[in-house]
Amino acid sequence: MTHIDYKRRQFLQYATLGTIAATLPGFALAESQGFNRAPNSSFKADVEIALTAQTADVPILAGAHTHVFKYTGKLLKGPQSALKELPGYLGPILNFEQGQKVRIYFYNQLPEPCVTHWHGMHVPQVMDGHPMYAIYHGEQYVYEFEVKNPAGTNWYHSHTHELTATQVYQGLAGLITISDEAERKLDLPSGEFDLPLVIQDRSFTNGNQLRYMLNRHQRMRGFLGDTILVNGQENSIIPVKTRAYRLRILNGSNSRIYKLGWDDGTPVIAIGTDGGLLEKPETLPYIMLAPAERVELWVDFSGRKPGSDLMLQSLAYQGSASPMGGGMGGGMRQGMGRMGMMDSASAQNEVISIAKFHITEKISDSPKLPAELIPIRRLTAQDISNPDKTVPIAIGMRHMTFQLNGRTFDMRDHTELEKIPVNSVQKIRIFHDTHGGMGRGGMRGSRGGMGMMTAMPHPIHLHGQQFQILSRTQTNQGNAYDTVKDGFINSGWKDTVLVMPGEEVEIIKPFKDFTGLFLYHCHNLEHEDMGMMRNFLIS
Ligand code: C2O
Ligand code: CU
Ligand code: CU
Repeated sequence: MTHIDYKRRQFLQYATLGTIAATLPGFALAESQGFNRAPNSSFKADVEIALTAQTADVPILAGAHTHVFKYTGKLLKGPQSALKELPGYLGPILNFEQGQKVRIYFYNQLPEPCVTHWHGMHVPQVMDGHPMYAIYHGEQYVYEFEVKNPAGTNWYHSHTHELTATQVYQGLAGLITISDEAERKLDLPSGEFDLPLVIQDRSFTNGNQLRYMLNRHQRMRGFLGDTILVNGQENSIIPVKTRAYRLRILNGSNSRIYKLGWDDGTPVIAIGTDGGLLEKPETLPYIMLAPAERVELWVDFSGRKPGSDLMLQSLAYQGSASPMGGGMGGGMRQGMGRMGMMDSASAQNEVISIAKFHITEKISDSPKLPAELIPIRRLTAQDISNPDKTVPIAIGMRHMTFQLNGRTFDMRDHTELEKIPVNSVQKIRIFHDTHGGMGRGGMRGSRGGMGMMTAMPHPIHLHGQQFQILSRTQTNQGNAYDTVKDGFINSGWKDTVLVMPGEEVEIIKPFKDFTGLFLYHCHNLEHEDMGMMRNFLIS
């Protein structure tokens, strides 16, 4: 950690958002200089979009507008449906087709550096929004990529060095949907029956301004807000008809993990995960959704009475077995007054309302839930290129900082362990490194925080191609895990996996097509910004 990093981190804890860049000279990345990127004329784009990151004042709560960072978009070429603006602070929804070539002119009009990552998309290194490609105020970076992903729900957000948490918090995020042939054959709910739901927790001052204050403990845990926003709006009420809907849910929060369920106990039916549609629908009592994870739900309001409501909630659970109790707390504003971030050990024992579906109209026809969705070939031990060597992702902690494989982020740094041959398929083991022996010497004897380290859940995200989950093993005894264990979907393609305290997860991931540096990190954005991120060098 450099001196400047340290000072700035200290500063961030007390800063008012929006003043950070102006008051701290020289914190921006030297690495980003000269990385403006011009369009490549031989890339024939089907869709062209101008996307600007800028400051804006938007209505979020009743009363005064909120000062935010916002992506605004303009469609320059392609079908009208390619870009859909949302009210509030989120960027436009980008609707792509598999096989399309997309060019995005990204302009930075923010008072600080910025770079945009297309989370979940399989794109080359220079298009992936690695923080080394950040641009300054007034500069432009042109992203060009072919949409290789299958139908599903991805998203884009800022990925700026040590500013990801604050920039995403202030609004720099938006949804990406992809459609393809296989999906169209399924006749899933579409148009007004295909609803995006971006769930985020925020805190506001009495003047309706975003508040982001962290003490040391909160910074280790990650930011938890007291107000739930859905698609950038508070107290979301969604009018629906008596038929089936497709809900594309993204947890766009910095660190809050939701346990999604229906308030009347109706089971949850999932049809898709991060990487697209499932092979067949899965029915669960609830779904755990960590930051950056997506889940697509099928919900059928047929037979419900007009005038009635169904509430999507986050149910109570215990995130950890730590002496701090739930550790995941952060009391909500509902019923507590506007008290700010609470640190009550039992705070997650309350149920949080996410969105109310209000049945407005009876209609007679509804599509039926397909028994089969899309074929998924399960990757097995036979597919692994190098079966004797498992790639480790060891979650550790040292000096009150979370680490991966014994190190924190360093712009271009990668170790032997982090070198991966291109066009290979790797088995990766993600685990809590409780003994501190991972990576290199000198970790043994690191003391303090071990309890907390093993007690924290971490949503681990890998850039590049989607992976499959091979196994989950829970070593912690105790009933905290029982409150979450039925909410994991392990059958689909994923790019982010929630690793609970005491849990070890084995995944299998292809590394096709593109060489270069690709990030893997914790998607608790406070953890990411404190350095819980590393590069894989694919070569
Ligand atoms: Cu959504 Cu590297 O992140
Ligand atoms: Cu990503
Ligand atoms: Cu983490």
